[in-house]
Amino acid sequence: MAPLLSVENLNVSFVQNHQTLRAVRGISFSIETQKTLGIVGESGCGKSVTALSLMRLLPPSIAAVTAQRLLFDEIELSALPESEMRRVRGNRIAMVFQDPMTALNPLFTCGDQIAEAIVLHRNVRRAEAMARSVELLDNVGIAAPAVVAARYPHQLSGGMRQRVVIAMALACRPMLLIADEPTTALDVTVQAKIIDLLLGLQQELRMSMIMITHDLGIVSAMAHDVLVMYAGEVMENAAANTLFSNPLHPYTKSLLASIPTIERKQARLTVIPGEVPNPHELPSGCPFHPRCYARMERCRTQHPALYTPQTSHQVRCLLYE
Ligand SMILES: Nc1ncnc2c1ncn2[C@@H]1O[C@H](COP(=O)(O)OP(=O)(O)O)[C@@H](O)[C@H]1O
Ligand SMILES: [Mg+2]
Repeated sequence: MAPLLSVENLNVSFVQNHQTLRAVRGISFSIETQKTLGIVGESGCGKSVTALSLMRLLPPSIAAVTAQRLLFDEIELSALPESEMRRVRGNRIAMVFQDPMTALNPLFTCGDQIAEAIVLHRNVRRAEAMARSVELLDNVGIAAPAVVAARYPHQLSGGMRQRVVIAMALACRPMLLIADEPTTALDVTVQAKIIDLLLGLQQELRMSMIMITHDLGIVSAMAHDVLVMYAGEVMENAAANTLFSNPLHPYTKSLLASIPTIERKQARLTVIPGEVPNPHELPSGCPFHPRCYARMERCRTQHPALYTPQTSHQVRCLLYE
């Protein structure tokens, strides 16, 4: 079966002060129906820009997006006129962002906002859409859905708001849900509940997901395949169980080592020295070499290609040249 989404050689650049910043550099991946692709990497490595460019939410005035292929359910998204893209966005591909407050309008009740999302894409009456929004709130595990439908966003907790946003995203039963750090703003117990919720809804709606996160714990709980990004590039790409049992890239290994455990709670931010480089000051050679425990002399000058040392397992590192 053809994948639901195939992305080939996606590039995104921003032009700022006459400088071109390459935020996403030639990434490729695909997602099968009902499967979850995890995109991981530290903050600033191009995960959100990737998601926004798939949704075509980066205006051409600020970003140049090119791709050899952005094929979604046999539609080439990059060639789609904006009027048709509007029918895909929020309808067949939906997105959930990190901060539910930015996705919600403080002036309207939660029920109104979900109903709005339904009316926008479906030919139904307002009253029917309102009834459906209460149903959706129930589906996302809200105990008193009719009461919550009448509430304004500021009257709810962070976890409840994120459930409302998820209900809104699922209003039109999308084939693909892009979740960009959906639990990062929530506390840990609420995080776990939202992840369970997404897993359940995925089964029910038979949708594919892109789960964007800096948290490998979330990836291991949800993803079938994983893309590890660094400085706008794919550093490693493998099935999730392969990536966890046999990580190849030193960056992936460092990320795995930085997962906090009970004995090692404090280690989290100190394991990988240094920071993700800014796109306007990318190191020469391998972008990760300044922080890499396994760097060799030639990593300073030679940019690694994406090698395939094992079937279906790609890695951008000269150790595997
Ligand atoms: N609108 C923008 N204008 C200029 N640079 C941007 C813009 N949005 C993102 N960037 C830059 O692109 C890079 C990738 O950002 P992003 O995709 O948000 O990272 P992530 O989601 O992985 O934390 C960062 O260096 C960021 O500063
Ligand atoms: Mg982001």
